[in-house]
Amino acid sequence: MKKTKFRRILLKISGEAMMGNKDFGIDPHTVDYIAEEIKKALTTGVEIAIVIGGGNLFRGVEASVKGIERASADYMGMLATVINALALQNSLEKQGIPTRVQTAIEMKELAEPYIRRKAIRHLEKGRTVIFAAGTGNPYFTTDTAAALRAMEIGADAILKATKVDGIYSSDPEKDPDAKKYDIVTYIDVLKKGLAVMDSAAVSLCMDNNLPIVVFNLRGKNNIKKIIEGEKIGTFVKGSHVTRIKKKDH
Ligand code: GTP
Repeated sequence: MKKTKFRRILLKISGEAMMGNKDFGIDPHTVDYIAEEIKKALTTGVEIAIVIGGGNLFRGVEASVKGIERASADYMGMLATVINALALQNSLEKQGIPTRVQTAIEMKELAEPYIRRKAIRHLEKGRTVIFAAGTGNPYFTTDTAAALRAMEIGADAILKATKVDGIYSSDPEKDPDAKKYDIVTYIDVLKKGLAVMDSAAVSLCMDNNLPIVVFNLRGKNNIKKIIEGEKIGTFVKGSHVTRIKKKDH
């Protein structure tokens, strides 16, 4: 087997990625596509843990603006991530990938509770592990859960799946002069307010020197290519180099 850039990764998938072209909910074809991409990546021998969001089913922050108490809204969002985790587990197992779901809030009848050492054993045995229910606490995003779990399981990087092909200096859909960063530092992400992950998640990665790769999940084989060391998307790390490239037109 070829040597890979990463040995164990934490893949962060947003809830919206499960919708495909729909406005809401779960599109089973899209979930199967995500599972196929994960399957291809696993052929490299990498170990994959996943944190999944819930925004396709329930948006906690928006709901709190509309009058639901923030903590309750966040708990509702955490439950949404469990629904997504079960949908993704189903697609992965249909493709023959042994998968375990662990939840940060105990609901033993439908999934294992989160136990760090057990999650690591699952990964060592070649199982894909999906962490659901965020951190189990309100006021924390699933991006922060991804950073936390990545650290806990000793992942080499977070692969943050998005709809765009990396981090831009401004919104590339609105600004023709937007520049894509190939490499950017955590500090620049925080100082410039670049839309990557919320600041708590980025700070956690920065304090623990955990690289983040922001990439487009719609690009075929992207997860596999990143694991094999191809320069896809934007690499967020701690060195002082920030390299930018003009947007391809
Ligand atoms: P090993 O201990 O390495 O054999 O791992 P394993 O996950 O195959 O064994 P285990 O006996 O722990 O689990 C067997 C199945 O039961 C797996 O599909 C687990 O995800 C599931 N399972 C384990 N613990 C729980 C739990 O607390 N609740 C639920 N709902 N399922 C569980």
